[in-house]
Amino acid sequence: MTATLITNIGELTTNVARPGDALGTLHEAAVLLEGDRIAWAGAASDAPHADALGTVDAGGRAVMPGFVDSHTHVVFGGDRADEFEARMTGTPYAAGGIRRTVAATRAASDEELRRRLKGFTRELHAQGTTTFEVKTGYGLTVDDEARLARLAAEVTPEVTYLGAHVVPAEYSERRDEYVDLVCDEMLRACAPHARWVDVFCERGAFTPEESRRVLAAGMAHGLLPRVHGNQLGPGEGVRLAVAMGAASVDHCTYLSDDDVAALAGSSTVATLLPGVEFSTRQPYPDARRLLDAGVTVALASDCNPGSSFTSSMPLMIALAVREMGMTPAEAVWAATAGGAQALRRTDVGVVRPGARADLVMLDAPTRVHLAYRPGVPLVHTVWLGGTPL
Ligand code: NIG
Ligand code: FE
Repeated sequence: MTATLITNIGELTTNVARPGDALGTLHEAAVLLEGDRIAWAGAASDAPHADALGTVDAGGRAVMPGFVDSHTHVVFGGDRADEFEARMTGTPYAAGGIRRTVAATRAASDEELRRRLKGFTRELHAQGTTTFEVKTGYGLTVDDEARLARLAAEVTPEVTYLGAHVVPAEYSERRDEYVDLVCDEMLRACAPHARWVDVFCERGAFTPEESRRVLAAGMAHGLLPRVHGNQLGPGEGVRLAVAMGAASVDHCTYLSDDDVAALAGSSTVATLLPGVEFSTRQPYPDARRLLDAGVTVALASDCNPGSSFTSSMPLMIALAVREMGMTPAEAVWAATAGGAQALRRTDVGVVRPGARADLVMLDAPTRVHLAYRPGVPLVHTVWLGGTPL
C-alpha cells in the first residue's frame, strides 16, 4: 500500500469541529495518506516517521478536504449559449429551456455523452471537486433516462434519478400519464443505477402533490429523496422536502419564515446554488438568514447548460461570501462538509483517520483566499483516493 506524508502544511482544514472552530483548523500540520484513506492528521512535529513514506512538502500552503459538489446535471447534449446571451439583454430565465436540452440529449449518442461526461469530470477534479453528484433529467423517456443514469454511474456513485425534471413536450396534454411513467416504468429502469430520487417542485414543473408521488415511488424502490424547491418563487418544495425526510432541498431562493423554521427543526440540508442567481441575474438566496436560524447550509454548482453553466466550487464560495452574507469559514465548510451532509456521506468532506484521502492543496496560505481572490486558479494539487491528479 502506498503511503504519503504531506507535511509543512501552513493551515489544515479538517472539518473535525472543536469548540469555537467548526472547521477544526490546525497550523503547521501534516496528513498521512495510506492507500485511498487518511491514516493520520495532526501537528507536523508529531508526524509518523518511516523510511518507506513518500513525503510532500506543502511549503506552508493551505490543505483542505476536496470539494463535495452535491448538485450537478452534467450529463446532457448541446448547450444554450444563445439563451444565456438573450438573458443578458433582458429575456428572463424560464424552466421551459430544459426541453431544448432534452432534444439535444436525446439526439446525442452514448459515445458523445460519455466523452462529455469525462470532460466534465476532468474539469471538476481540476478545480478541486473530489465528490460530485450527477442527475438524469434531460432524457425524459424510459430509455433515455436509463442511459443517462447508466452513463452517470460510470463517473460517480452519487447518481440521482430526475425523470421529474419537466413534463416533456409530447406529454404536455397528458401530464398525469407522464407522472405515472416517472413513478413506474421509468423508475424501474433507472433505480438500479441510482442512489437518489429528485423532483423539480416548482410552478411550471411539478405540483407539490405530483412531487410527493414521485418521491414516495422512488423511496419505495430504495432511493433516497432530495428536492429542487423554491427556486423561481415561493412554494411548497421546502416543506415537502422536510416532510419526506429529504437529505437536501436545493435552491431555497424564495423562503417564508415557516420554510426557514421547518428547515431549522429538520435534518434536511438547505443547498444553495449561487451560480444560478449569478447566471440568471436573480436575487441570491439569503444564506445569513438560514445560518442564523440554525439551518445546515451546503453550497453546490448546479452545473447545467441552462441556469448555471459552471463547475467551479471556488466560484460558489466567492459568491456565497461576497453576495450572500456567509463568512469564508462558513462557505468553505458548506462546500465540503455541508455537501457531504447533503449526500449523507461521512467518509468525505473531512480529514480524519478512515476518511477518503480526497484533498486539495491551495496555492495560498489560507482557505480565505478562495473568496479573497475570486477567479484565480488557486488549486495547486488534488489527491483523489490518495493519488495526486
Ligand atoms: O437546477 N431547476 C431545475 N433544473 C435546473 C435547470 C435546468 C436547465 O435550465 O436546463 C436547475 O437550475
Ligand atoms: Fe438543479
